[in-house]
Amino acid sequence: MDIQAKKVVAIAAGDGIGPEIMEEAKKVLNLVQEYTDYTFELHDTPVGGNVYKTTGTNFPEASRLQMRQSDAILFGAVGLPDLPFGTAETVILKIRHGFEQYVNLRPLKLFSPLRDKCPLKDEYIQKGIDLTVVRENSEGLYTKKDGQKSEEFAQNIMRYSRIGVERLVRFGFKYAQRKGHTEVMSVDKANLLECSQFWREIFLDIGQEYPTIQKKNMFIDAFVQWLIRAPYSIQTVVTENMFGDIISDEAAYLIGSLGMAASGNINPQSGGISMYEPIHGSAPDIAGKNIANPIGMILSVKLMLEESFSDSLYGQLIEDAVVSVLEVGRTVDILPQSPGSLHILTTSEMGDAIVDELKSKLKG
Ligand code: IPM
Ligand code: MN
Repeated sequence: MDIQAKKVVAIAAGDGIGPEIMEEAKKVLNLVQEYTDYTFELHDTPVGGNVYKTTGTNFPEASRLQMRQSDAILFGAVGLPDLPFGTAETVILKIRHGFEQYVNLRPLKLFSPLRDKCPLKDEYIQKGIDLTVVRENSEGLYTKKDGQKSEEFAQNIMRYSRIGVERLVRFGFKYAQRKGHTEVMSVDKANLLECSQFWREIFLDIGQEYPTIQKKNMFIDAFVQWLIRAPYSIQTVVTENMFGDIISDEAAYLIGSLGMAASGNINPQSGGISMYEPIHGSAPDIAGKNIANPIGMILSVKLMLEESFSDSLYGQLIEDAVVSVLEVGRTVDILPQSPGSLHILTTSEMGDAIVDELKSKLKG
């Protein structure tokens, strides 16, 4: 067996629905391992609110060390309602920053069976939705550097470095090239913010290295409107941290549910350790009920295969299996108003159905 095919994966299931959806992702990994040359060595790495309650930290050293020795990290979700904001969530930032995952990659595709769940009229989605948000993941407001809060005032400071913007924008252009996109759209607020003016200058500068790709700029306020007016026209979007956070949730609603969207926190350097996670949170209100949609988590496995292991074959099969299952069964979040003959699936049934489909694709 090709030694390269052995992959160590840190499993950070986290809180709320995290462990439930992670179980389904593991089923997919186990199946891929059974039918291919891959060997996945999975290691549990506790993070978030539950582990905070027992250890006093949301990111135990043992988890960090295990991640450091892994080829990639699969992350479920963190956050518990009985803990103050941030107590669990900051582990996400610790990992993103600690492992220099400076790109947040969020592909958002409307699968054709889910057209009935897209809130836009048919005429807007006839040409489909298949866009990717390339969000800056290591600078801007979310570093929380210089964040302060007192009785009288609060502040966060937005700061971008040339290196930080250049590397993100360059990743965006390379990604667009790899996907055969003809245009990269940069979203900013350059009519007001110095950070955005700086961003736009660098975007246009780096863009010259990619003469075959069209460069477009849009202000964030215009863009959020454009996203519901002409989503089919959007291909690769590069944008700063907070704008990317917001527009990716908006786009996720357009593809049917927040539960459908996967993301990669990418360290593109060779040997870089990247983390893959659904873009939704821990959804404590539905935790333990076996009703969460595991597809965002399962598509995060696809993204891991593609981005960390340079494998488009099995990743694509996973997506194909998801699409086939959506024709016949749905979790409640993506169930249409009149479900007709569609089966209502639990979390584990959805995972099993995807595994069954994938099995027949792997055999065939
Ligand atoms: C996301 C989440 C996180 C973020 C939070 C929980 C820190 O909303 O991954 O989009 O904004 O980055
Ligand atoms: Mn978010």
